[in-house]
Amino acid sequence: MSTPLFLKLKNNSDSVNIMKIAIIGTGYVGLTTGTCFAEIGHEIICVDVNEEKIENLKKGIIPIYEPGLEEMVRKNKINFTTDAKKAIKFAEIVISAVGTPMGKNHDADLQFVKEVAETFGKHANNQKVFVNKSTVPVGTGKICKKIIETEFKKRNVDFGFEIVSNPEFLREGTAIKDTLEADRIVIGTETNNARKIMKKLYEKIEAPILFTDIKTAEIIKYAANSFLATKISFINEMAGFCEKAGGNIKDVAKGIGLDKRIGKKFLNAGIGYGGSCLPKDVKALIQKGQEFDCDFPLLKAVEEINENQKNLLFKKLQKHLGALEGKLIAIWGLSFKPKTDDMREAPSLTIIKKLQATGAYIHAYDPKATENAKKMIESFNIEFCKTPLDTASGANALVILTEWDEFAQTDLKRLHSVMKNPLILDGRNLLNKEIVEKAGFKHVGIGQPDQKPHETAKLLEHA
Ligand SMILES: NC(=O)c1ccc[n+]([C@@H]2O[C@H](COP(=O)([O-])OP(=O)(O)OC[C@H]3O[C@@H](n4cnc5c(N)ncnc54)[C@H](O)[C@@H]3O)[C@@H](O)[C@H]2O)c1
Repeated sequence: MSTPLFLKLKNNSDSVNIMKIAIIGTGYVGLTTGTCFAEIGHEIICVDVNEEKIENLKKGIIPIYEPGLEEMVRKNKINFTTDAKKAIKFAEIVISAVGTPMGKNHDADLQFVKEVAETFGKHANNQKVFVNKSTVPVGTGKICKKIIETEFKKRNVDFGFEIVSNPEFLREGTAIKDTLEADRIVIGTETNNARKIMKKLYEKIEAPILFTDIKTAEIIKYAANSFLATKISFINEMAGFCEKAGGNIKDVAKGIGLDKRIGKKFLNAGIGYGGSCLPKDVKALIQKGQEFDCDFPLLKAVEEINENQKNLLFKKLQKHLGALEGKLIAIWGLSFKPKTDDMREAPSLTIIKKLQATGAYIHAYDPKATENAKKMIESFNIEFCKTPLDTASGANALVILTEWDEFAQTDLKRLHSVMKNPLILDGRNLLNKEIVEKAGFKHVGIGQPDQKPHETAKLLEHA
């Protein structure tokens, strides 16, 4: 498949400056970044310590599910290697995109970032730019600079180098579009030279570039993710209020989201945020705050609401079914959101663990994340099924945990005929309550108390 048609690149093909780039860390971010830079004409080497991953990538097999990425990897000439030394020598820009997982105290674990800086310091053979694309706490640029300087000193060399913070904002599931049609590019630098080089790197991408100092760029990434998490916890708090007071959260979200100051996105009430970024980044920012005497009471509340939200569906299940021991619960969706196979911090993990503790039996299905889920979920009382209908067969309740499109297109008649008890707990408000209840189900959503259809808001579109 060629570049998806929806992509809008700057039409300046005559003036493309081909740059030599090494990406260190070939995960969701590194692979997408490397592939997109190759797509716009740069020469790319992608490095990873995981030999199996690199061997597969050489054969065109990609380790993650990301729409359009496999085709783009195959189309572009990307070098994949485990040899960081070779890659660093080749490149004028070295981009670190390694993981920054949650550390013991909920801070960001920088061991991989530090390793990359050390490797850079050991092998750089002329003046280069070191770019931090991983999400790193404020001050990390300075730490990397020190590590590189120390390594240069040990070698008795002084090539000069530039440190840049260039945080990544892509979302899994739309990673290519988010990279090639970015809302903005944030570049934190200390020098005009680094600014010029980074501008050249991104010259084919039509997006506003915000140049800042390094610390500000590092903070922007955490501020962005914390704000998104806040939006989710806010709407979830409102959903709880709707359940008690009798409103419908879907219409509340519509009603506030149409206000351009608020915006429609990240206002879907549900079972809480998960994934590899929001939970760890909110925690890491709170943790970093301690160093500077910043308590972050708002973010602490955001976290608390999110933790409670993950338990909400389980409580609703108990309310409707009583004791869960021996009951069969069907689960649709395991990944933390649709269009990805990423299971990191997925709310499904919390809910499944709780169900297993009650002695309930679980049938689970996900279109893409099942293999990753199997590695993270204890294998007792759970069977992973091949289709949504097989999963629901004989179930006392169906629980929707991820809003994959295919679940919304389910044949309700067939679903009704295979379930033992027609109860749907819709943790993502994916299905239309009115239609589902007309098909004979009891539908329990989030922030959607039972109400007559005519009470649901209709938005009149004016010409
Ligand atoms: N996944 C996202 O949606 C997303 C979005 C924006 C920002 N981020 C941030 O980007 C960073 C990377 O995230 P990710 O999801 O791509 O992580 P990932 O775990 O998918 O990939 C990291 C890769 O780095 C490799 N690695 C570790 N140490 C290495 C080393 N010394 N040399 C070479 N390779 C090494 C690992 O083997 C792994 O393949 C994180 O800081 C994350 O917070 C992620």
